[in-house]
Amino acid sequence: MDFKYQTVKEVYETFLADTESTIPSELKTKYLGKKGKVKQLLKDVGEKPKDERANFGKEINTLKHFIENKIGQLSVQTKAKFSQDQIDVTAPFDINTSQENKPKLLNKVGSKHILNQELENILNVFEKMGFDIEESRQIDDDYNMFTALNFPIGHPARDNWDTFWTEEGYIPPAHTSTMQNRVLKSYKIPIRVVVPGRCFRNEATDASHEHTLHQIEGVYVDKDISMGDMFGVIKEFLEGIFEANLQIKIQTGYFPFTEPSAEIMISCPFCKTRGCNICSYSGWIEIMGCGMVHPNVLREGCIDPEEYTGFAWGFGLDRVVMMKYGIDDIRKLHSGELEFLDQF
Ligand code: PHE
Repeated sequence: MDFKYQTVKEVYETFLADTESTIPSELKTKYLGKKGKVKQLLKDVGEKPKDERANFGKEINTLKHFIENKIGQLSVQTKAKFSQDQIDVTAPFDINTSQENKPKLLNKVGSKHILNQELENILNVFEKMGFDIEESRQIDDDYNMFTALNFPIGHPARDNWDTFWTEEGYIPPAHTSTMQNRVLKSYKIPIRVVVPGRCFRNEATDASHEHTLHQIEGVYVDKDISMGDMFGVIKEFLEGIFEANLQIKIQTGYFPFTEPSAEIMISCPFCKTRGCNICSYSGWIEIMGCGMVHPNVLREGCIDPEEYTGFAWGFGLDRVVMMKYGIDDIRKLHSGELEFLDQF
């Protein structure tokens, strides 16, 4: 292009040089933006002698159109180039295996954490059995965690749950039973609800203890519900979860919110009671606590214990995952170690 005015010519030439190395969006700001070079040229129009202003203005307009067209062409070319190279700017880089400082694209995408995979399986089993699902919460209060669950104030059982407290007196729940009162109050009888949730305990961590764990609570209330119903339901869902014919052993237990209370042992799904390192060579694994909902808990949930009965249970999701997949250290589940997570 041939420009008569020196200042217009200069802008034209620098623009051409810039197109070699500058990306279209930056060219646009530099030349066509509010403080861009074309706007600056326009400011000079008034300084030209009157009879030259029209010609000078025309040249600037020609240049402006040229620049607009060129930037338009360049952005189309850039987009085409990116899609040809199939660059996915959102793809993760594997920094560790980079060679010659070039980041290498990971050749696989992420996957669902094994805890979430298994949680989905388990909730599926319960949904097929007609249960509703109510998620637990991550911060609660003394009333729901203890008082509504028949823990009298000052009762030593309050110490059994290694509870964290905030300075304001709130509680990151130590078990999903913290939701029982809400479930009893907000669902209509017959109640069949499972409550998955994250729990927190002030524990020294080791291979089988973590400060953060996951439980799945169940609450079942109706007329004439007996312990027989409880064991029948528990056996059915445990078989659904472990996809195996299990033997169940029951031993008495104690929870302030159930009476009678029980602990459920299952025949070790790995060695079928022959004894192995997962069940500490006993052939049995303690899997959960359960019991008939205490009349005081029903009453506190606005349900008449003379008319209705029910049962509840709580088991650890992390435990189930460890047993199903032969994981020997609970801390691995929260480790974020890719080598471990990639196995699932
Ligand atoms: N919340 C109890 C625990 O964390 C388990 C449980 C739930 C026992 C419901 C009885 C009924 O150990």
